Amino acid sequence: MPLILDMDPGIDDAVALAIALTDPEFEVKLVTAVAGNVSVDKTTLNALKLVEFFNRLDVPVARGAAKPLQKEFVDASYIHGASGMPGYEFPAVTHQADSRDAVSAIYQTLLNASEPLTIVATGAYTNIAQLLLDHPEIKSKIKQLVLMGGSLSGGNVSSVAEFNVFTDPDAAKIVYESGLPIVMIGLDVTLKALVNSETLEQLAKLGEPGKMLHGLITYYKDEYAGGKPLHDVNTIFYLVHPEAIKTKKYPVYVCTQGPAQGATIADTQNRWSNGKTNALVGLDIDATAFNQWLIEKVKQMAA
Ligand code: BDR
Ligand code: CA
Repeated sequence: MPLILDMDPGIDDAVALAIALTDPEFEVKLVTAVAGNVSVDKTTLNALKLVEFFNRLDVPVARGAAKPLQKEFVDASYIHGASGMPGYEFPAVTHQADSRDAVSAIYQTLLNASEPLTIVATGAYTNIAQLLLDHPEIKSKIKQLVLMGGSLSGGNVSSVAEFNVFTDPDAAKIVYESGLPIVMIGLDVTLKALVNSETLEQLAKLGEPGKMLHGLITYYKDEYAGGKPLHDVNTIFYLVHPEAIKTKKYPVYVCTQGPAQGATIADTQNRWSNGKTNALVGLDIDATAFNQWLIEKVKQMAA
């Protein structure tokens, strides 16, 4: 499956990228970085580190937006550490980011593709919104946007907002109003797929990739009673196991201002939307299947 990944690695982004780069199911055409968990310089560097770690220098990494469209940039280094990928000593990076900025790189990749491509976005949607503003005609080359972000049931940075949408709500609004097919994998899914300590222990035994991912996840400060939510990895899981995620079509609205800034509101009773929907929203997940798949994928990396 050909893919473009737009992300802010970030520990859970790193696990998602590791799987996408190593699972033969996926053909990663491009990785673009955005400011989010840490600065865009660091998220770009982290993507390069992973591409080198997995010896995938054929995959271009392009640097994207350094800040949200309108809001001030606030990172999440309290969760992901100052570097965004602590817990493992990566060798110094030897190759460079692509000379194109993220928007130009995505645009050209879509233009050159023989079929419309899936874009998976696991950071703030600043790069994607900018692409749609600069090149609205490119929509016909986008098959779907699979987005980590949002929530119908309470937030993780405010009582209503999830981090990726909250970081750049103006970008999220543009994306949700784009008319493109959207799959929303938000907290309603990701907080139900916690990676428990047994899974984490198993990863540690799976060669250098397992050691690396175990190191990162051990550091990761996003923790609940039953384990850690590897939010972004759920998007990759969805692509190969859509049957393991319960979904429903809803009209979803993004709140950009005030105390509900960054909230994603689904018009579940169709009071405002004339029967129209704009997103397939993830509501539940088979957490056991997710944990088993994760171990399987890391085994494959180590083989
Ligand atoms: C999202 O916020 C980031 O910190 C994670 O990488 C994930 O994309 C979860 O709310
Ligand atoms: Ca992320």
